[in-house]
Amino acid sequence: MTHIRKAVFPVAGMGTRFLPATKSVPKEMLPLVDRPLIQYAVDEAREAGIEQFIFVSAAGKGALEDYFDTAAALENRLEAAGKKDALAALERARMPEGALTILRQANPLGLGHAVRQARQLIGNEPFAVLLPDDVIKGQPGALKQMVQAHAKVGGHMVATMDVPRAATSAYGVLDIASESGRIAYARGMVEKPRADVAPSTKAVIGRYILDAAIFDRLSALRPGAGGELQLTDAINADVPTVGVTGFSFEGERFDCGSVQGFVQATAAYALDRPELSGAFEMFLSNRLSRQQMAA
Ligand code: G1P
Repeated sequence: MTHIRKAVFPVAGMGTRFLPATKSVPKEMLPLVDRPLIQYAVDEAREAGIEQFIFVSAAGKGALEDYFDTAAALENRLEAAGKKDALAALERARMPEGALTILRQANPLGLGHAVRQARQLIGNEPFAVLLPDDVIKGQPGALKQMVQAHAKVGGHMVATMDVPRAATSAYGVLDIASESGRIAYARGMVEKPRADVAPSTKAVIGRYILDAAIFDRLSALRPGAGGELQLTDAINADVPTVGVTGFSFEGERFDCGSVQGFVQATAAYALDRPELSGAFEMFLSNRLSRQQMAA
């Protein structure tokens, strides 16, 4: 079994849907309950065995880069004050020496272009890609589930979820040749198809395990949907040679690239935290019954 050791995190997006918050704070730093969004993707990757974290970042993301750095002054103060819980909370944001590399995507030319930046660092081994906007609440995490499934089928693997037909134009969508359990064997993949021409309703969600062969395809990419260099197009081109499967993960996915998804994820994660759930549940149910009475 090939150990998937490296993961790419495209974090160059501007987060325009979260303005004005994202005017001075990278969207990956917006807190979902009490942890920044990026932490969820990093934790999921760690659980799946990832050891090398490659962020494809952009100008204006300094806070994200600082987040995984040591904060010596802060740690010293907490230690002197005996604040053990606060120190323990900081542990999550720590990376082992040399585990994090931050690249800059100079031009926002698309997801395919972002992943291409990591070519030299990945070399010739299969690797993961996680889009931190897609938060997946799963036990185990979606990437760990995929790593296990990938060990059996190899090739390129994408996470998938069934979506309403009306929503296909927001996703990469699989053209399915056959299915076996959670695995769908693809005969193609198309980026953001209109509902009336979408080959299925199996949408790609932001977790990928890719063979290093993808880099040749990424180098040859021409602009696709939205005029961007699309990762989906590169994967699609590899269907006959590398093989492409969709993995229908077990878990709940939140689109934290949208405000609605972010708010829902906040509620779901808060309800899951023993120290918050009791009071929060009471608050929500009072609130809902007031709203129903007013309606
Ligand atoms: C990206 C991918 C798309 C995928 C989606 C999942 O699109 O290009 O194939 O379905 O992430 O969230 P984006 O949401 O960045 O437009």
